[in-house]
Amino acid sequence: HFLAQQTKSIQTIMSRQHDYAIHQRALVNALLPQINPAHMWADLGELSSFQTRSAVSDNGVKAAQWLRERITAIAVDAGRRDISVYEVKNSQWLYKQPSIVMKWGHSDKPGIVLGAHMDTLPALYGKMPGADDDGSGSVTLLEVARVLMNSGVEFDSPIYFIWYSAEEMGLIGSQAVVADFAAKKIPVAGVIQFDMTGYTPHNKQEMWILNDYVNPALTTFMHDLITEYVKRPVFYTACGYDCSDHASWHALGYPAVAPAESAFEEDNKDIHTAQDTMDKLSLEHMTDYAKLGVAFAVELAKE
Ligand code: BES
Ligand code: ZN
Repeated sequence: HFLAQQTKSIQTIMSRQHDYAIHQRALVNALLPQINPAHMWADLGELSSFQTRSAVSDNGVKAAQWLRERITAIAVDAGRRDISVYEVKNSQWLYKQPSIVMKWGHSDKPGIVLGAHMDTLPALYGKMPGADDDGSGSVTLLEVARVLMNSGVEFDSPIYFIWYSAEEMGLIGSQAVVADFAAKKIPVAGVIQFDMTGYTPHNKQEMWILNDYVNPALTTFMHDLITEYVKRPVFYTACGYDCSDHASWHALGYPAVAPAESAFEEDNKDIHTAQDTMDKLSLEHMTDYAKLGVAFAVELAKE
């Protein structure tokens, strides 16, 4: 606990040095049209066809390898060389699915972290497609990475793309990832968690932001980014508990934010069931969150 407190205060001091202000309008607006929704839909078709992506299952391990291959192919196709991909293992052997991390860039400036969770619950009966939770966030992140890497831009801060394992088991994967960042003393200027980007009740194209277990200043900044670049109405909501991986970062003092697909009270009732399928989702909604991801990374990683 002492170590956790120390890490927390050191990280809090470091993140204060970063100013959260919009200053890359031309670049962001040039990149937003590069987002290709068809890529997200195709990737989501593949991800939701693993019978389960549970962290304790062989298919869960296969899904992790699929994501590793996908992000590696994206970087190679874009001609990026300053990248490395690594796996973060969980301490308990039961959670055999590793988290996948792609680090892009070599500067020792504070990093920018974009993440989603790859796993689903175990499929006890039938299938667990996890299209929305969190296939949607996982493929949103792939498309954000593809657009950034093909931009030709050299970013000033390192960018990390992370697919966490074992979120559904109690944030197990992200706790190991954050502990690894803390152990390596990697400074971080901002973390964004994409947990569910595809479902919108009544097909309303409006966006939501969690306002608990997050950094308030970075959350206000994310609100500004949506207004400026995505041009959708934005509202705040709360889980009321540490409902996803942003909470693992927040717990150790890293500035984290969490966009949400809907109000918590109007969430997708099919998550965690065999009915969490693609046909319930809006590709337009996912595209809006991809826009947010591109804007977040560019504004924080480019000076
Ligand atoms: N995506 C959910 C969290 C969520 C659910 C956000 C509904 C917004 C609306 C996440 O994958 C999840 O299921 N979290 C667990 C808690 C976790 C610590 C195991 C949950 O909410 O029960
Ligand atoms: Zn879930």
